[in-house]
Amino acid sequence: MNDAKEEVRSKLAIEDVIGEYVQLKRSGRYWRGLSPFTNEHTPSFFVTPERDIWHDFSSNKGGDIFSFVMEVEGLDFFGALELLAKKAGVDLTRYDKKAPRDLGQRKNRVIEMNNIATNYFMHEMTKSQTAMEYIFKKRGLMKATVLEWGIGFAPENSGLKNALLARKFAEQEIREAGLIGARGGEMFRSRMTIPLRDSQGQIVGFTGRIIGDGEPKYLNTPATIVYDKGRQVFGLNFAKNAIRKEDFVVLVEGNLDVISSYQAGVKNIVACAGTALTRDHLKSLGRLSHNIRLCFDGDRAGIAATERAIILAEPLELKLSVISFDIAKDPDEIITKFGAEKWLEVITKNTLPAVEWVIKKYCVGVFFN
Ligand code: UTP
Ligand code: MN
Repeated sequence: MNDAKEEVRSKLAIEDVIGEYVQLKRSGRYWRGLSPFTNEHTPSFFVTPERDIWHDFSSNKGGDIFSFVMEVEGLDFFGALELLAKKAGVDLTRYDKKAPRDLGQRKNRVIEMNNIATNYFMHEMTKSQTAMEYIFKKRGLMKATVLEWGIGFAPENSGLKNALLARKFAEQEIREAGLIGARGGEMFRSRMTIPLRDSQGQIVGFTGRIIGDGEPKYLNTPATIVYDKGRQVFGLNFAKNAIRKEDFVVLVEGNLDVISSYQAGVKNIVACAGTALTRDHLKSLGRLSHNIRLCFDGDRAGIAATERAIILAEPLELKLSVISFDIAKDPDEIITKFGAEKWLEVITKNTLPAVEWVIKKYCVGVFFN
């Protein structure tokens, strides 16, 4: 792994890597800019190209390109290595004797299919009045939101499979990407489609919300070589900076709650939708902020999920709290009914430490029911 690390380092200029996140100005032997980790107004963030290092006097952090990317992207070392290897054009599988020779390539093919699918679904959306009405009128999404998140529509008679076959993807590959089922039928039909992205924003799968009646309400891409449910945090790529800046993250149940909140300007929000919370989910969040505010349903399942989260969070030294409200059924409804200010007020004022919240719930059950 050290060889891979050194090859990546030798191919990248530290000021270019950091320059993508921080506006740097030359200052003698250094480059200088505003810290991406604090809200400082006088630049105290320095890069020293001769030594391939950076130091931030405002947060007293420093290190090399790898530690910088770990900090700024909230990644572990391997994640940072992968990101920088891609930037440097270094094929990491050459260094990993256990990895199948072509795994990197196969992953890229899946991402490519997902990109094509996203464009296809967006195009289909513009052709369907039902979809346009649902997405823009019923869900109240704005054009900019739809474009940024890559929201689209899979029609009942989707031609995605044929479009991919025409682009020289094999049926087997399309199946492995989770875009068609075991018998070759389209996975997503009559659904609003929302891309699922990894923390770098690459599209690893989709979630589809039924338009009209039908089951299930939400359908997600099954696990693939690029999509691991236990790690996927919905919205993390969009929320990263806001989480760091606000120093807390709101964790909700629904993907649409995330998008709605983001659109309303409250951007430090994510979901682990469609799956149970795992320690890996919490770890990814904990790298950005230790303060995690759970916003699950207040029912029995919500209590169980909160109890589980408390146990999972313990070794990670996170501060868990719970946001609760009874003015609407979910965050999306608060925002559409009462506006962004109300939502902001709820997430800042209606919180209790998780343990206290659970105890209170039980007390209410015991003494007042
Ligand atoms: P909810 O049923 O509370 O959905 O499920 P919601 O987000 O408020 O949905 P809208 O507003 O009616 O569209 C919460 C989350 O649970 C997952 C989805 O990720 C959903 O966002 N879910 C729900 C599924 O994975 N499958 C389902 O069939 C239902
Ligand atoms: Mn909802």
